[in-house]
Amino acid sequence: MLSKKAQAFRPSPTLTLAAKAKEMKEQGIDVVSLTVGEPDWATYPKAAEAGIEAIRAGKTKYTPASGIPSLKKAICGLTKEIIGVDCKPSQVTVTAGAKFIVFSAFQALLEPGEEVIIPAPFWASYAEMVELAGGKNVIVKTQQANRFKMTGAEFEKAITSKTKILLFNSPSNPTGVEYTEADLKQIADVLRKYPQIAVVSDDIYNQLSFSPKGTSPHLLHVAPELKDRVICVNGASKAYSMTGWRIGWATGEEKIIFAMASYQSQTIGAPSSMGQEAAATAILECAADVQATREELKKRVAHAYEAFSSIPGFTVTKPDGAFYLWINVEPVLKKLGMKTASELAQSLMEKDKVVVVPGDEFGGPEYIRISFATDRASIDKAVERIKKAVQ
Ligand SMILES: Cc1ncc(COP(=O)(O)O)c(C=O)c1O
Repeated sequence: MLSKKAQAFRPSPTLTLAAKAKEMKEQGIDVVSLTVGEPDWATYPKAAEAGIEAIRAGKTKYTPASGIPSLKKAICGLTKEIIGVDCKPSQVTVTAGAKFIVFSAFQALLEPGEEVIIPAPFWASYAEMVELAGGKNVIVKTQQANRFKMTGAEFEKAITSKTKILLFNSPSNPTGVEYTEADLKQIADVLRKYPQIAVVSDDIYNQLSFSPKGTSPHLLHVAPELKDRVICVNGASKAYSMTGWRIGWATGEEKIIFAMASYQSQTIGAPSSMGQEAAATAILECAADVQATREELKKRVAHAYEAFSSIPGFTVTKPDGAFYLWINVEPVLKKLGMKTASELAQSLMEKDKVVVVPGDEFGGPEYIRISFATDRASIDKAVERIKKAVQ
């Protein structure tokens, strides 16, 4: 009965693991889950209140498919503030999460067989989405020595006559590393030579940078003239702790945005009306909350980095933003006679009741990813259990 395409569908491994951890908790098992990329703090009160108020005011109907004008206006303001480019509401589309934004960008841009360059390690969903859109993944392995950032030379080497998109994500899930302006200049220099390549810049973590500025450097800071071929993806999920409200957006060149919005209107329809009201308030009124979140994350990262680095055989990449640690566990795999981090993750979950995400899914089978968007006690408990397991 199933189509060939559907036979290849796989659920998101991170969400599957998170669900498994939840199931174990519900069975009364004392499990520590460091899986899902989701803040453990509440949606900021002003934003939540705006959502509730929208329901009370009867704003519970379909909205324009690409988003309500007040949210689009707020997004334009935020884009100007963070990325430095002017955009009109017609250059904004809003949908149910940044995930569907990335998906619709691939749908709008890719002809069958066209290639998408993805620096590895990468967020697991990108590669699946490229395939669903009929494209071909070209995975560029980056070096731990260069903090997993793709150099201009590595990028250029991967380009062929079929290259259509560069998928870019800074700060990155899973590494938390952000590209500096010098790194971005290298990428921009290559892009200038290849005008047929568009960039899908997944900026979902760019307000969660640990730098003094609080926001990450952006490709369009160093090369604003590329703005017609850079699609900037963002959303309310991470910075505003609104994962369940399902609001994501893109800004970019009008025709590309129009195509993405048309695709969204024929598939997912309009995004949630109350979610959009809440997101507009989050952008306009919650800057101080985001600042407080950054300060809290800086404390948490310092603790989590030290705690995980103290596990023998674990080498942790120090993140610049977001809420993940990307950890090389190769010596531990060797010691325990395991081939990949999947085996280690499986064993940690079953025997030690600690759930981490194996790097296999992110293009790094010798790594695990943990999320430190959780309390200190859970981090300490997980580290203690893992230490026992690997010794
Ligand atoms: C890199 C990256 N992009 C996009 C998303 C999706 O965000 P949303 O919840 O808005 O769909 C995630 C969520 O984990 C992510 O890590």
